[in-house]
Amino acid sequence: MKIFGNNNSLSKGFEYLDSQKYFYFDSACQTLRPQEVIDAEVEYYKKFNACGHRVKYKWGEIVDKKVQETRDSILKIVGKNSKEYSVGFTLNTTFGINTVLHQIKPNKFNQVVTSEIEHNSVFLPSITYAKKNNLKGLILPRDFHGNLEYSIEQIKNSIVLVNTTSNIDGRNLLNIKELCKDIKKNGSLLLLDASQTFGHNIQLLKDVDFDASFGSGHKMYGPSIGFIIIRKELLKDLDYFFIGGSTVQDVRKSDFDLISDDSELYARIEPGLQNFAGIMGLNEAINWKSNFRKNERNSVQYEEELKLYLNKLLKELDVNLLNPNPSSVVSFYTDKIDSHRLGVFLSERNIMCRTGYHCCHYYLKNLKKFPPLFRISLGLNNTKEQIDFLMDNLKILTK
Ligand SMILES: Cc1ncc(COP(=O)(O)O)c(C=O)c1O
Repeated sequence: MKIFGNNNSLSKGFEYLDSQKYFYFDSACQTLRPQEVIDAEVEYYKKFNACGHRVKYKWGEIVDKKVQETRDSILKIVGKNSKEYSVGFTLNTTFGINTVLHQIKPNKFNQVVTSEIEHNSVFLPSITYAKKNNLKGLILPRDFHGNLEYSIEQIKNSIVLVNTTSNIDGRNLLNIKELCKDIKKNGSLLLLDASQTFGHNIQLLKDVDFDASFGSGHKMYGPSIGFIIIRKELLKDLDYFFIGGSTVQDVRKSDFDLISDDSELYARIEPGLQNFAGIMGLNEAINWKSNFRKNERNSVQYEEELKLYLNKLLKELDVNLLNPNPSSVVSFYTDKIDSHRLGVFLSERNIMCRTGYHCCHYYLKNLKKFPPLFRISLGLNNTKEQIDFLMDNLKILTK
């Protein structure tokens, strides 16, 4: 095993992991958790392990306060306010998308529109919702940079559900603002799978008037948890069937009243007891990232540097690279070695990269007919030395 650097070369927050032994390049699936995030979760368990949203004793009050802080932080990072939007917690992005989409009243819409480069978490609910409600399903192309290619006719009276950043090659929905304006003017809804965006380029979502966007804490240095940022107008108009404890204010023999207090509307999409430790860890992850190397390069600059470094070295490899642009998420295949075998060989050296279709079967396997891919995704835990080690090994194995 190649030995290099020292623990100072490891990004702050991940000192607990030996950077000379473990080479984790799967942040697009889930990021590693900084020590501060782990501590925040443990603090909940050890100091005020109570339920939120119902409890009047002191521990419960602390939980409510901290949970509210996380909701506020999430709104703040996307530049939204609590007058128009609410934040609800859920299991992950997949669960969030299903929760909202399947409870939208279909009567105002003709079709569900999505794009070709979607994760199965977008693709499958789009298919099932359209089928269940006898709506048309439309799949639109994305250009090399990630722009959605559409005409006004194609997005009229539609539920448009697309990702803002691809987990295949990091392409971004660059025409998001124009798309959003066209959607608003044409009786449609804009739902965004922003799970890859929250960890890398939140700026993209600013000033975008979306109806709902979905994220996963585990893709942004937080615990395994999902969240939904949803326009209150839409939240009030959902056709609720996925309900239970905490979602109602009164229940009679055969009907009930959903929570109606404007400041608690999120409760309608949070049936049952929540992952309070996870919610607190998520707030810590948001704070941690915004304070990352504050006096040197911030998280965006640090990641940019890593990204350019990796992408420069990738040019030296004889592989079929899918990426049109440098990105923190890169995918390729080579005729010299099957991607899964490559992944297994690298694993022998504790290098962890993803192989396969990355849950984008429609686009990668059936439309493009690619063989299984090899994916490298960078995170703030990575260093240039780690990238060197990965590339040295890739060079040998793809020769
Ligand atoms: C673009 C994209 N959308 C959705 C998901 C699903 O996220 P989760 O597994 O957190 O539900 C992923 C996960 O990798 C993703 O990359």
